Amino acid sequence: MYGIDILVKEHDAILRMAKVMRNASLHVMNGGELVVADFDAMVDFVRNYADKHHHKKEENLLFDFMVKELGSVGKNLVTHGMLVEHDLGRLHMTDLEQALRAYEEDNTNTGAKLDIIVNTTAYTYLITRHATKENEVVFTFGEKNLKKESLVFIDEQTKILEEDGEKEGVQSKYLGILQRLEDKYR
Ligand SMILES: [Fe+2]
Ligand SMILES: [Fe+2]
Repeated sequence: MYGIDILVKEHDAILRMAKVMRNASLHVMNGGELVVADFDAMVDFVRNYADKHHHKKEENLLFDFMVKELGSVGKNLVTHGMLVEHDLGRLHMTDLEQALRAYEEDNTNTGAKLDIIVNTTAYTYLITRHATKENEVVFTFGEKNLKKESLVFIDEQTKILEEDGEKEGVQSKYLGILQRLEDKYR
């Protein structure tokens, strides 16, 4: 179905960014320059593409119907699984941003440098496991068990959100950031 195909496609971009984040951390570990603006761009991507653009569709559409229609299994999978992981990702971005501001103020602050690398790489582990679980288990379970009319509604609303995003230039902006960082950190 369209609504899930879009989410899976977005996972591809998010996982490409996870690879970039790991490579940029490795670059710093190997003595390369820590370019604060690049890490800020990663935070921007995670917050506005992975979280706002992508997680918003999961939380407000597919997961919302799964909680309402799929009993305790749906509720546990979403509320105690996926949503908790979305929050953990947000926490990593808050901590990463704080560390970036501290490092910007004093680039001899090795504690801040450590926190940048830790939160960047921890996020990549979290989001890789999370997106894989959604692709292989959660989305399949939802698609198989939700009411037909709910799936149709999800498709329709996803289409509207995608068009809104395109009007605002969200997809092109963030896929552009991804491409630029991917070319730099490969
Ligand atoms: Fe998710
Ligand atoms: Fe997702």
